[in-house]
Amino acid sequence: MERARVKAAIVGTGGIAGSHMRAWEAWSDAVKPVAAVDIDGERAARFAHQHDIPRTYTDAAEMLERERPDLVHVCTPPAFHFPIIEQCLQAGAWVLCEKPLCSSLEQLDRIATLERETGAACASVFQWRFGSAAQRVRLLARSGQFGESRVVLCNTTWYRDDAYYAVPWRGTWESELGGVSMGHAIHIIDLMVWLMGEWSEITAVADTLERQIEVEDVAMAIVRFENRALCSIVNSVLSPRQETRLRLDYERATVEVTGLYGYTNANWSITPLEGQDGVLAGWPPDEDEPSSHAAQLGHLLAAMRSGTPPPANVADVRATFELLTALYKSSRTGESVKRGSIASGDPYYAHIAGYEKS
Ligand SMILES: NC(=O)c1ccc[n+]([C@@H]2O[C@H](COP(=O)([O-])OP(=O)(O)OC[C@H]3O[C@@H](n4cnc5c(N)ncnc54)[C@H](O)[C@@H]3O)[C@@H](O)[C@H]2O)c1
Repeated sequence: MERARVKAAIVGTGGIAGSHMRAWEAWSDAVKPVAAVDIDGERAARFAHQHDIPRTYTDAAEMLERERPDLVHVCTPPAFHFPIIEQCLQAGAWVLCEKPLCSSLEQLDRIATLERETGAACASVFQWRFGSAAQRVRLLARSGQFGESRVVLCNTTWYRDDAYYAVPWRGTWESELGGVSMGHAIHIIDLMVWLMGEWSEITAVADTLERQIEVEDVAMAIVRFENRALCSIVNSVLSPRQETRLRLDYERATVEVTGLYGYTNANWSITPLEGQDGVLAGWPPDEDEPSSHAAQLGHLLAAMRSGTPPPANVADVRATFELLTALYKSSRTGESVKRGSIASGDPYYAHIAGYEKS
């Protein structure tokens, strides 16, 4: 008997929505597209026609009411993520939402509460976790094969010009919910945190050097981990030769990935310490799954089938979100921020940048 397909809808049919459509196509035996939503009705109609989606709406609440989808992909500008996630979970739909999920740890914790109350789940798009190379490196690192981690470099050196920031929702705390750290570097920072484990303290500097924006276009930070490993983070949208790079020096090997917006196995390398070729056991993986929205959706659908929380769910991404909040707090206060210290009552708990509406 044919397995029932998951009824899926997409909210926001702009730039990134195409990657979500490639994910639906990759899993067409498991996903049944039912609706596309965009406040721009003509854009939604064009998009739906192009991707064979039967119905369109200009309002997410109306779509949820009429379609009762099992899964909603949220691809709107950042400020709309949280209210739409709330609506979806309250309607009993699972959510796969673009980054960043929301504007504060307070909102993140509210999503976790809603997950418990409704039994539905919310996952953050973090496609860098889901390529076969990252999955294998994590397994090998966690098994202890490389030894303890010691030194980490985590760099997002990208270039975004004035025209990029001319799009109205970009460049402000209120609508983009952060600058290069939250908007661009979040991918490799999340991968780093996911590979490394528990961080304990961060010291950061952020500035707006060149673009006419409210949020930062450069940030640098030093992170200490519970095993005393140290990581340097460099986030920039002012770097003409663009690159995303993560380098992890363990006791017995250096593990590196260098790319831009994604990777295949070929973007990764593991260099053993002399005489330690045993660290290469299990490397590279036989499969060569690139990092992609499709790879992440495959994991989410498997979780739906088995009734387990999806990877990159709220609990699973909190360490990354807390690190980014602490990066902003440290850069604005000039002080180091310890893990767990940003709690209810702290302005940085209520907003990633301690930003208060006037
Ligand atoms: N994962 C990645 O690699 C990646 C890459 C690029 C962008 N993104 C993220 O994807 C999100 C969208 O970015 P984009 O570049 O596609 O933006 P975009 O401006 O191209 O598209 C956003 C769309 O959402 C629609 N929209 C706005 N408010 C809405 C609402 N309340 N309800 C329904 N539709 C609404 C707009 O009309 C527009 O069509 C952002 O959060 C961004 O950070 C992620």
